[in-house]
Amino acid sequence: MSGVNEIRSTFLDYFRKNGHEVVSSSPLVPRNDPTLMFTNAGMVQFKNVFTGLEKRPYTTATTAQKCVRAGGKHNDLDNVGYTARHHTFFEMLGNFSFGDYFKANAIELAWNLITKEFGLDAKRLLVTVYHTDDEAFDLWKKIAGLSDDKIIRIPTSDNFWAMGDTGPCGPCSEIFYDHGDHIWGGPPGSPEEDGDRFIEIWNLVFMQYEQVTKDERIDLPRPSIDTGMGLERVAAVLQGRHDNYDIDLFRALISASEEATGVKAEGEHRGSHRVIADHLRSSAFLIADGVLPSNEGRGYVLRRIMRRAMRHAQLLGARDPLLFKLLPALIQQMGRAYPELVRAESLISETLKLEENRFRKTLERGLSLLSDATGTLHKGDMLDGETAFKLYDTYGFPLDLTQDALRAREIGVDISGFTDAMQRQKAEARSHWTGSGDKATETIWFELKEKHGATEFLGYDTETAEGVVQAIVRDGKAVDSASAGEQIQVVVNQTPFYGESGGQMGDTGVISTDNAKLNVSDTQKKGEGVFVHIATVTEGMLKVGDAAALTVDHDRRSRLRSNHSATHLLHEALREVLGTHVAQKGSLVAPERLRFDVSHPKPMSAEELQKVEDMANAIILQNAPVTTRLMSVDDAIAEGAMALFGEKYGDEVRVVAMGKAIEGPKAGKPYSIELCGGTHVNATGDIGLVRVLGESAVGAGVRRVEAVTGEVARAYLAEQDDRVKTLAGALKVQPAEVVSRVEALIDERRKLEKELADAKRRLAMGGGQGGSAGDFREIGGVKFMGKALNGIDAKDLKGLADEGKASLGSGVVTLIGVSEDGKASAVVAVTPDLVDRFSAVDLVRIASVALGGKGGGGRPDMAQAGGPDGAKANEALEAVAAVLSA
Ligand code: ALA
Repeated sequence: MSGVNEIRSTFLDYFRKNGHEVVSSSPLVPRNDPTLMFTNAGMVQFKNVFTGLEKRPYTTATTAQKCVRAGGKHNDLDNVGYTARHHTFFEMLGNFSFGDYFKANAIELAWNLITKEFGLDAKRLLVTVYHTDDEAFDLWKKIAGLSDDKIIRIPTSDNFWAMGDTGPCGPCSEIFYDHGDHIWGGPPGSPEEDGDRFIEIWNLVFMQYEQVTKDERIDLPRPSIDTGMGLERVAAVLQGRHDNYDIDLFRALISASEEATGVKAEGEHRGSHRVIADHLRSSAFLIADGVLPSNEGRGYVLRRIMRRAMRHAQLLGARDPLLFKLLPALIQQMGRAYPELVRAESLISETLKLEENRFRKTLERGLSLLSDATGTLHKGDMLDGETAFKLYDTYGFPLDLTQDALRAREIGVDISGFTDAMQRQKAEARSHWTGSGDKATETIWFELKEKHGATEFLGYDTETAEGVVQAIVRDGKAVDSASAGEQIQVVVNQTPFYGESGGQMGDTGVISTDNAKLNVSDTQKKGEGVFVHIATVTEGMLKVGDAAALTVDHDRRSRLRSNHSATHLLHEALREVLGTHVAQKGSLVAPERLRFDVSHPKPMSAEELQKVEDMANAIILQNAPVTTRLMSVDDAIAEGAMALFGEKYGDEVRVVAMGKAIEGPKAGKPYSIELCGGTHVNATGDIGLVRVLGESAVGAGVRRVEAVTGEVARAYLAEQDDRVKTLAGALKVQPAEVVSRVEALIDERRKLEKELADAKRRLAMGGGQGGSAGDFREIGGVKFMGKALNGIDAKDLKGLADEGKASLGSGVVTLIGVSEDGKASAVVAVTPDLVDRFSAVDLVRIASVALGGKGGGGRPDMAQAGGPDGAKANEALEAVAAVLSA
């Protein structure tokens, strides 16, 4: 009998041989459909191909698609464990034609596969068609040779398949298998159709229409085909079983859980083992596709699934985490077909363990509260909503877990009482709303959070996604629409745009709908988890409720990723080079650069900075994968993760690890481990290169390191290199000789300057061309030397004045230096024999006044002053001379 893996590959091979492209399953989180919580059918990834929006290089395809039906519109969670065919996770096998073949080929391909390849007995098969679809009726008759009583016309929506309220749709034809008259039930359309004898195994949808809105249906560009066969169901048929949980794959998972718990899957325990096997599959696949347990949206559906499984593990007497122990069995069964399970093994395992440990603490206390509260209740009674809410709020019991726990005793839960209690708590929370900015405008985000929940962030896994516009805010007020030219803030139910936090800037990009285009210039997080896109409508009109395609600016985000990962590497390198006192004090991760502030009491030396840069680049060259895990804060810190002091962390944190330490106590362990919600590169090599530009002071004991990475770093270095080459060209040496050449030039210049100064001085004082007879005279018996000297520095004037005094023997020297910009400095020197009669200080003041200055200072034998008006140098000299003659 064929195993599940063989059936899957037989199906795909069959369609490949018949010209179909084998396409991989798309992720469980749909990127192209904001209205779906999880991918729930094979056609979801092809939605836009059917409608003609998207073109692919093939017109026929086949897939084995992962599907989850829990939460959202299709929700099978409550039934799992109690029926033979409900699953939260299942695989849908399908073949698709995008305007290629239609009904006749689809029916022929299907019939040949199940009767020839799978070898099902045609006598056990019957089909349904939509009641008006005579064409399908005739084709089944002709191709399969089925008699009229085996082709049943169904007038209801059962035979008209639609993806959702909108999207591609069309009449369908379902193939049923008769498990035999030992099982109760009648054929489809009969009063006993709900029985379990006739089981649908394959649905062929003749896609013809697109439901555009609730009331408008248009033709698809070309008739198409979408089919869906539940792998677990067909495996049951092929393995001669009636119950999906008896197929090889489930038997393997259930025997792993029997072994781990020591409890047989029989009698009252049968359902618990089934719940565990099913929920293990959905949890593992959801985690592998980027969903992590949380209290909102998809994350909460995952948490509900996990916790429901954990209660059943507890029913089986498991006292330690159980689910993670079963993961190897799942990977053995499904890892080959879905390698993402293998890649995410440690993330799945840790996430399961963490959630089980976390919930175990409150599960038992909650269950004992539940048994106290229901001790006196009987079949048909209701548990009060208040208690159900307390279980939810204090003990982490999702409502469906409480319902499940009471199901066997046939006790219900007062849902409206539960909702009332929840509302009361929200009203209480509302009274505490505050925001960092203007209270009135901040309150709006809390209101939106309450109304729609937190925004689901998809940007760790994707940079494009679709979402539904939940709110448009203009000038602090919610509005229904916005048109071209308006600046607004937009909230969407899910987004790939990163909202600024942890130093990383918000994403930019574009949002487009059928009727509008928007430029997003920033994304911010408000009101505890609402992502706000700050945008300008560039075209058309945006309305609340519109479906929108969101696209992050990829280049900018890539640079942000590189810079963010580089800060982690620099942080660790700084700790290694400077010491563990180094703690992060703030950071800015911008697309073109990064800035990182650390506590360190003194400037860093050039050698230290170089070492830091070298270390970070060594890890970049490792090209080691960057891993992200979710764990409790305590566990993360115990693993050595660096947490920011004073930062508020939730119960669970993302832990980002990168690189491998080569030496020291951490050898072999990750080089850097940090708590971080930012977006990072996949492998350190993606950073390319980090270049530290420098460091500076930003406050007492805090230094700022600035750096660039990747293309910016490369361009920076190229520019530096160009400069050196230009310099070498100008100096007419090789680039390697630039430094020694420049040093030699500096020496030479210093020497020349000195020679020049000496020459000028000689010229100035030594008669020569600079001196003149008028510079030297006798006034009232006092020898007076007065000179105006162009181009002589103030600092040289005193030395010259001394020389002047020496040459006079006795007298007064007044020198006025005029700089190139026309300013004057004056020095007056008086020989010792004359200081009783003339004070250099008084004389220099007189000179200074003439030069437009405000006096000077010094000693009676030597004083100095300045003035702005060098053109008055001769007047100044004469003013001094006048004093001598008085
Ligand atoms: N899309 C169809 C289904 O899910 C085949 O049944």
